[in-house]
Amino acid sequence: MSKERLILVGGGGFCRELYFWASECHAAGRLPPVGGYLDDAGDTLMGFDYPDMPWLGGVEAHEPGSGDRYVLAVGHPRAKRALHGLLATRGAIFPRLIHPSARVLRTAALGEGVIFCPGSAAGPDTKINRFVTFNAVCGAGHDAQVGEFTTISSAVDITGGVQIGKDVMIGSGVTFLPRIKVGDGATIGAGCTVYRSVPAGATAYTQPAKILRTIRKDPS
Ligand SMILES: CC(C)(COP(=O)(O)OP(=O)(O)OC[C@H]1O[C@@H](n2cnc3c(N)ncnc32)[C@H](O)[C@@H]1OP(=O)(O)O)[C@@H](O)C(=O)NCCC(=O)NCCS
Repeated sequence: MSKERLILVGGGGFCRELYFWASECHAAGRLPPVGGYLDDAGDTLMGFDYPDMPWLGGVEAHEPGSGDRYVLAVGHPRAKRALHGLLATRGAIFPRLIHPSARVLRTAALGEGVIFCPGSAAGPDTKINRFVTFNAVCGAGHDAQVGEFTTISSAVDITGGVQIGKDVMIGSGVTFLPRIKVGDGATIGAGCTVYRSVPAGATAYTQPAKILRTIRKDPS
């Protein structure tokens, strides 16, 4: 059997973040070493300093080897679904990437390919479905549920009993009040507090920062 390696799927900014989190998972004995990345746009990391993460080609033409394991390294749910579709039909295996600093309680249920970046947490009896991404420092409180392929950007607080649908894109720094429901395919803008349920497909945002004053240059 060939040696296992982890392949990141997508060569953008999130791939570079995941490179570090995956390497720390490997150091902790949780995942095989990072062996490279795939991107149909070419060697997008050329010029960056990631010598041990070579470009392995595009996703379209890629054939999984027996030791290959995959992490979907893109943010948008639609992109995750598309890349998953291409690779899953060829038998690709998607382990969970749970950073050693993340807290996943014994009674939390995590699906295939779930990503937990540093400092994220899944509370008691939460259900985090397949290919959900928790970026850094996010929390799911007791009994919260998150549907498949949903992406949660950094510093998001999902409080107790919240139910988030599938394919939802949540911006950074969002707080959900307890038991709020978010329908499938919704988008939640960065920096807001969600205090009413959001219907499927809707885009919700609040609280823009307002400019109180600007410093004018002294005319003298
Ligand atoms: C809410 C959001 C989805 C809207 O995107 P969009 O449909 O492209 O909307 P636009 O950027 O055209 O902005 C539309 C209006 O909403 C305002 N707006 C956009 N995002 C906002 C936000 N998060 N909070 C408050 N106001 C926002 C814009 O200023 C603009 O106002 P105007 O019409 O008065 O000029 C997007 O701005 C957002 O917040 N995305 C999350 C980004 C993020 O956190 N990514 C994670 C890291 S990758």
